[in-house]
Amino acid sequence: MIPEPVSMVAAEGAFALGADTLLDAPAELAGVASWLRTTLRLPLAPGGGGVGLRVDPALGPEAYEVRCTPERLEITGGSAAGVFYGGQTLRQLLPPQALRRAGPVGWAVPAVTISDRPRFGWRGVMLDVARHFMPVADVLRFVDLAAFHKLNVLHLHLTDDQGWRLPVPGWPRLTEVGAWRSESMLGARQHARFDGRPHGGFYTAGDLREIVAYAGERHVRVVPEVDMPGHMQAAVAAYPKLGNGFEGGVRTGWGISSHVLNLGDEALRFCRDVLDELCELFPSELIGIGGDECPRDEWGGEDRQPAFTALMAEHLAARGRRIYGWDEILEGGAPAGAVVAAWRGAEPTTIAARSGHQVVSCPDISVYLDYRQSDDPGEPTPVGTLLSLAEVYAFSAVPEGLSEAERELVLGGQANVWTEHMETARQVDYMTYPRLSAFAEAVWDAPGRSYASFEARLPGHLERLDALAVNYRPVSGPRPWDARPDAPGNPRELQDRLAELAEMTARLDRSKLA
Ligand code: ACM
Repeated sequence: MIPEPVSMVAAEGAFALGADTLLDAPAELAGVASWLRTTLRLPLAPGGGGVGLRVDPALGPEAYEVRCTPERLEITGGSAAGVFYGGQTLRQLLPPQALRRAGPVGWAVPAVTISDRPRFGWRGVMLDVARHFMPVADVLRFVDLAAFHKLNVLHLHLTDDQGWRLPVPGWPRLTEVGAWRSESMLGARQHARFDGRPHGGFYTAGDLREIVAYAGERHVRVVPEVDMPGHMQAAVAAYPKLGNGFEGGVRTGWGISSHVLNLGDEALRFCRDVLDELCELFPSELIGIGGDECPRDEWGGEDRQPAFTALMAEHLAARGRRIYGWDEILEGGAPAGAVVAAWRGAEPTTIAARSGHQVVSCPDISVYLDYRQSDDPGEPTPVGTLLSLAEVYAFSAVPEGLSEAERELVLGGQANVWTEHMETARQVDYMTYPRLSAFAEAVWDAPGRSYASFEARLPGHLERLDALAVNYRPVSGPRPWDARPDAPGNPRELQDRLAELAEMTARLDRSKLA
């Protein structure tokens, strides 16, 4: 089972789960019961004596117990989320074919007692739908697979220099112009190759509400992000008045645009309209404002970002929301209540916690799933540092040396899927799995977890991923057709990246590290 439960004790016999099995569940679990019927492809008609779903608030909110005997299958959770995780565990107790979307039903569930709970409340994955637009159906499937691994946050990166995917009332050119680019870069930017083929797309408000609802049914919160005040070339292309004189299209090359917002009254009004629409579409208390990698060239070198971030935090606070921003927002002091996504190595997690901020650990060198999986020349577009399955597994959301109070501020971890080099869901699958399976176990973080044990369970889990039709990377390495000779990469050495990260984070307050 992945992630490995805290405690699992096998017993004798099995419970027959089939077309005539009855299910009893209180009204508050109607959603989980309905999901279970659909996912197991069984009627599970209401009635006693078969499967029972229960809430016991004495358990932690995401904790659950599965008690399976030949007579009865009971799933008890601290809340509906806990019962849902018990249901996901049940799916992994069944043979892989139970995970298929059609075919024979009816299985023997081995007798077992499982008692389980996650260590972290933030078990996230970020999906970049800006660099490559991902159709709604693929996003829903991405959510399903994340929820299968008991992840509970989808951070949706909706805008960037290369594309704007969010409709905002009053700003129609964002999707008319900002959602489309004339071509895309092929491979790492050092090669300056382009495909000569337009790319784009955007979500409607209805699409986004569907994603939120679908994720909610699977106990996944969607935290939306509009990156500001940098990573804004697509918006400036749509509305040059928001920029600093730039008149051009949506960026076609990867990398960071210097064309940022001008932060005048109109640009501030724009950002507030965007945040209002995010609040309208997304119930999440946290609203992502990005804040990473904002070049100041167009501001004459002046650092105008901290004051801007404070204004956005204030605007959201008036709506009962808080900002979620990359660790650059710590430079110059992040607003009270801001939650930090610490990505530039491991130190920003410590710095954020020492500054009293809640923080989500997502260091690039540990959990950036666009980074290459091996040094095999057949890996598609190898970028970043080497990030093997074992290295992802070794991720720990809490850095060494934090006090008890500081550890409490670390909400958990998040793996980030940047999609410059992933145009399709098939390519996203290849980069994401099974590394996200390893990540899920790292943030569920049962005591005593070990890579040796994970590796022993992996073949069985890959059979599950096969049944779920996931194009994961085989353990033996890339298949010939996974290679992208048309899109060459730019692999980096860890020591070079660490030196670069030290330079990039030089403006963080290192006195907090003392
Ligand atoms: C980031 O990777 N620019 C957050």
